[in-house]
Amino acid sequence: MQVLGLDIGFGFTKVTDGRSHQIFKSVVGEAAEAAFNNTINPGSAAPLGPHRQITIGEESYFVGETAEAESRGRGFTLDQQQLLSRYARVLAAAAIAPMVPSGEPLRVVTGLPISFLRRHRDGLTALLQQRQQVTLTHADGSTEDKQIHIEKVRVIPQPFGALFNNMLNEHGKPSAQRFVTEKLGIIDIGFRTADYAISDRTRYSERGSQSSDAGISLAYTAIANSLTEQSGVQVELYRLYEAVERGSIKIKGKRYDLTKLTERAFRSLATRVSNEVNRLWADDWDLDAVVLSGGGSGALLPYLQPLLEHELLPVTEGEDPRLLNVRGYYKYGLHLWPPEAARQSTR
Ligand SMILES: Nc1ncnc2c1ncn2[C@@H]1O[C@H](COP(=O)(O)OP(=O)(O)OP(=O)(O)O)[C@@H](O)[C@H]1O
Ligand SMILES: [Mg+2]
Repeated sequence: MQVLGLDIGFGFTKVTDGRSHQIFKSVVGEAAEAAFNNTINPGSAAPLGPHRQITIGEESYFVGETAEAESRGRGFTLDQQQLLSRYARVLAAAAIAPMVPSGEPLRVVTGLPISFLRRHRDGLTALLQQRQQVTLTHADGSTEDKQIHIEKVRVIPQPFGALFNNMLNEHGKPSAQRFVTEKLGIIDIGFRTADYAISDRTRYSERGSQSSDAGISLAYTAIANSLTEQSGVQVELYRLYEAVERGSIKIKGKRYDLTKLTERAFRSLATRVSNEVNRLWADDWDLDAVVLSGGGSGALLPYLQPLLEHELLPVTEGEDPRLLNVRGYYKYGLHLWPPEAARQSTR
């Protein structure tokens, strides 16, 4: 039995088994037949990450950065229903298959944004909890058959991933006392959603927990609209990460500076997040501290910090904030299904 944390985000799909992890853009596309191997220097393909191709039943897909770069028809979505009905199965299989031995019984903890939890929890569980035969195609064209056997699934409110990541140690046991005894706020800023949650001595507070649309894609939409005005080209949102990071983008031979646009868009998004937080937590002035999570919180931090009056718990230096939730899901999985006990119970 193996425990996995799985986070199918609107921006990125992440999975971890506690030792290693996978992360790739939540993009799915048609697999193209490789007509010829067009890399002169095989090492030069490295920035794209590994080749991700998976066949499920009759359909073969490129996934993540491979789909972004090579699929003719490719899709991504900012709609929860669509993410689940059209993409989640392929994204989950593509993330999990390279991580696990074929046929190994798996137990998976995953999350949903708070506002979708009630409506989609059972659907997501049913979608994941099954046996599935898939084939991975590697960069050199070789194939590998895998059976993915997910025997148990637990779905929790997304921001609790970050909370459990702080609260539990690598054996799934509570270790950081303040996370157990204090009243904490969690702000998880993802690509599409911002989720706010309160844990009062580990108890989930309904009143203080809510999802909103204040994800990074709002800022990216503003940037993309301005680029469309300037260049006439509609840039897909998921192609903006690297450009925003770099501070510029080249469209049809012309380079556009993004630093001012990004600053304005991020400042306005941070203002929105802080307004939402202050409104939602107006009665919770007794919060001890606030935990930040999600890739967006890393990007927004410089703008957000001056606007929030709470004690912010720092993210560990060098840690990718996109992975905080999934690491917490994994630890919570160990907490639910401790490895020794699980081995005994299957005897
Ligand atoms: N190395 C990186 N590459 C791309 N984006 C990054 C990177 N580091 C941080 N980011 C930020 O992370 C954000 C995505 O965060 P995250 O993976 O937490 O979102 P998500 O979980 O997919 O979205 P949601 O929670 O809305 O479903 C991007 O919008 C970007 O601002
Ligand atoms: Mg997320």
